[in-house]
Amino acid sequence: MSQDILQKIQNLTAALQQANYDYYVLSDSKMSDYDFDMKLKELQQLEESYPQYADENSPTKRVGGDITKKFNTVKHDIPMLSLANTYSKEELEEWEVRNSKLSEGNIEYVCELKYDGVAIGIKYKNGNLYQAVTRGDGTQGEEVTANVRTIKTVPLKLQGDYPNELEIRGEIFFPLEAFDKLNREREEIGEDQFKNPRNTASGTIKMQDSSVVASRGLDCMLYGVYVNEKLFSNHYDSVVGAGTWGMKTPVSGKRFIEKCKDIEGIMDFVNYWDEERKNLPFEIDGVVIKVNDYNVQEELGFTAKSPRWAISYKFKAEAALTQLIEVTYQVGRTGAITPVANLDPVLLAGTTVKRASLHNADQIEKLGLHDGDWVHVEKGGEIIPKITGVDLSKRKNDAREIEYIQHCPECQTLLTREEGEAQHYCPNDVGCPPQIKGRIDHFISRKAMDIDGLGSETVDLLVSKGMIRRSSDLYDLTYDQLIALDRFAEKSVENLLAGLEASKQVPFEKVLFAIGIRFVGETVAKKLAKHYKSIDALQNANFEELVGVDEIGDRIAESIIGYFENEDNLNELIRLKEAGLKFELSEEQLLNTTDKLQGLSFVISGVFENHSRDELKKMIEDNGGKNVSSISKKTSYLIRGENMGPSKLAKAEKLEVKMISENEFVEMLQG
Ligand code: IVH
Repeated sequence: MSQDILQKIQNLTAALQQANYDYYVLSDSKMSDYDFDMKLKELQQLEESYPQYADENSPTKRVGGDITKKFNTVKHDIPMLSLANTYSKEELEEWEVRNSKLSEGNIEYVCELKYDGVAIGIKYKNGNLYQAVTRGDGTQGEEVTANVRTIKTVPLKLQGDYPNELEIRGEIFFPLEAFDKLNREREEIGEDQFKNPRNTASGTIKMQDSSVVASRGLDCMLYGVYVNEKLFSNHYDSVVGAGTWGMKTPVSGKRFIEKCKDIEGIMDFVNYWDEERKNLPFEIDGVVIKVNDYNVQEELGFTAKSPRWAISYKFKAEAALTQLIEVTYQVGRTGAITPVANLDPVLLAGTTVKRASLHNADQIEKLGLHDGDWVHVEKGGEIIPKITGVDLSKRKNDAREIEYIQHCPECQTLLTREEGEAQHYCPNDVGCPPQIKGRIDHFISRKAMDIDGLGSETVDLLVSKGMIRRSSDLYDLTYDQLIALDRFAEKSVENLLAGLEASKQVPFEKVLFAIGIRFVGETVAKKLAKHYKSIDALQNANFEELVGVDEIGDRIAESIIGYFENEDNLNELIRLKEAGLKFELSEEQLLNTTDKLQGLSFVISGVFENHSRDELKKMIEDNGGKNVSSISKKTSYLIRGENMGPSKLAKAEKLEVKMISENEFVEMLQG
């Protein structure tokens, strides 16, 4: 018996530790929140009943989260605790009853949304934002100030009558529209889709390049205000107060925050959002209920991990049971095969679900999927619904296991799967129709050659008529050929030909992106163009040289080398060159770029008189230098502007980093 209990505790501990690692370190949660919380609760109960088996490093004893090394680690002045949570309305009622017993009299509550993103602590001194730190393990987190500064809803300077020092706690999240836009852009360039907004927000806020963060459109909602003075007597007033300082608070939203007098009021809020959450422009995973009055909060106090005066009620991920009709396979522009489950249509979280991604062969095997299986479909944090399990009781005895295809569904070529890779590929890149179309679609896309008058449907038509097979064929199209097609009137033929002509002026970095070298996205193409200046120089670079370039890793380097080893690619490049595309930086681009700052790294801090921070960053990059967001011993220079944060200044002084003014920097470039 006791052996069984011990085994159970060990199994639960291992599963939770793995889930914590996946979630916090890899930003890729494989266990649903609900499963995690249920397992944690079970473990807690077992540890309470059998304290002899409780481990001091048990997942129940910590707030969770490991710290990755990339950013400065900063200790929180006030620990960032988590919230006790429940999925049961009965438990919520019990919590309310306990509160009213502990603290006599009527308790006022504040109900809020539980935003599904990442927690952040943002500090202001004299009205200026000077530090933003992630939750990390609750005691210390990572300083991601540069990234947080890019979030438009976070004020850099406060307005109104704000206190001298304060810390704001809130949640950074991905608005659904921005998330969908990002995925559409990634699809266009043949990159993998991000799975859900929360993990993507968490990955984004820890990116090294804050300009990428800025482009993604994160948002931040405040849920806590920490000020030294006893400025407010309750939580609600503090939120309203922070709103007057220019913070984005839930107060202006429709029922985003509400004061309630009793459990009926709380339940009304819970029920309203359980239904309405699907109409929000961002994701929430529950609601948070807080005792409003600070004095009562103090009376109720804390447990080791969470305040007793707050609780979160979490919504269950919506799930449905439906039948698998068949598994079909999609072929991407890179030849990657994605299996898709086609389902008997079922209503889930307000939309009809007909398909779910199965990701790869391992996923199908893990689910043990058979023909005609009844499957559980969930739409939690994920935008694309996923299959979480199979209802074995409904399986027919003679049902056959789904066998992964061996040949490409489009061109029947034998598929390949590299050692250690999850994805199958169709290697027939020159003859497989979706690969041909996909590559040309990518070539003409807005961020690549941006060819006016030419869209994906026209590409389909031209490919199916056998008029183009490669991007370079576009430049051989003639007026007579095009006008002979049903769809084309004189005007549209002229537009298309003019668009193709204009694309010959598209700068080298975009051409480099357009040719579709695997793993060479927009940013990498820019870096490579700046570094090598021409396609010939890039072609001549060996592996060691490539990985020596800032931010180019093994995988990208291998892919570039592989690209230039392929005869078809070389022929295509020759034809594109002959068509007149730009395969080197222009005179003007060359004039504005030098290697003067090669090997030097810069931190920019404060406000400047003659240049914006973005202009300074561009000047650094154009001259071979590197922008970094936080100061370390390795920082070559700190370009110091007005109103620089005191902690940064102290750090620069301590590490003896050279500080220069804006003018000194400009002189450095001229000298
Ligand atoms: S209050 C001491 N309010 O949920 C209490 N948290 O498990 C601090 N969250 O890490 C939290 N919405 O990131 C609070 N309205 C809200 C919230 C919220 C989302 C997150 C927060 C925290 C986690 C707690």
